[in-house]
Amino acid sequence: MAVTIKTAAEIEKMRTAGRLAAEVLRMIRPHVKPGIKTEELDRICHDYIVNEQQAIPAPLNYRGFPKSICTSINHVVCHGIPSGKILKKGDSLNIDITVIKDGFHGDTSKMFFAGKPTVAAERLARISHECMRIGIELIKPGVRLGDIGHAIQKHAEASNCSIVREYCGHGIGRAFHEDPQVLHYGKPDTGLVLEPGMTFTVEPMVNAGKRHTRLLPDNWTVVTKDHSLSAQWEHTILVTEDGHEVLTCLPGEQI
Ligand code: MF3
Ligand code: CO
Ligand code: CO
Repeated sequence: MAVTIKTAAEIEKMRTAGRLAAEVLRMIRPHVKPGIKTEELDRICHDYIVNEQQAIPAPLNYRGFPKSICTSINHVVCHGIPSGKILKKGDSLNIDITVIKDGFHGDTSKMFFAGKPTVAAERLARISHECMRIGIELIKPGVRLGDIGHAIQKHAEASNCSIVREYCGHGIGRAFHEDPQVLHYGKPDTGLVLEPGMTFTVEPMVNAGKRHTRLLPDNWTVVTKDHSLSAQWEHTILVTEDGHEVLTCLPGEQI
């Protein structure tokens, strides 16, 4: 599939979808505390997306995924399935929201803590956020995807953490996952040259231990092979004429 360049009208729809996805993350924050089940978080997000936003939760039935959001706790890297599991004090989790509005997708995730985080979880959340931010800040026409992946990888490894290789960022628009693949590791001066109108996600998964992952028998849940903590943040980005716009950042909020 070729990389799509969005028209002005399509970009406007991507802005709306991005804002809605970000608003779900803002809405769910006060609900993330010890004692809640991840399936309760899923239900609250589902109802908000469907009833308040009149939008569609993209994960639901996507390639058979059974829920409306992904909840990835502690050593879960990504694609955790909401369940009867109860959050306990000190758990860290990624909540990943993708909505479809007017035919376009917005995809974003953040780290949350149930109660007070451990020092290790807080450090990893900070480093993975820095990785995402370093990648996003480079985005402008003429820059290559390898430049971005390299900068992200360098920061993670300088902090003695590792970057997951099996999963990556992606083009996004009418489809949930479009070309290009946005690797969070790589070599400078390689890969796709960015152009205005491209939209894609940056979503590095950073492990405190080794980079290797294992897929659980449910065929969705990805965990670290060594059971070390993992953390991830995600934004949907538009390449503009002179830089980039973060489509999943709300006015007045930091990326
Ligand atoms: N939102 C995830 C991403 O960032 C994809 C989740 S696919 C699902 O690409 F089926 F697990 F929802
Ligand atoms: Co994504
Ligand atoms: Co996502």
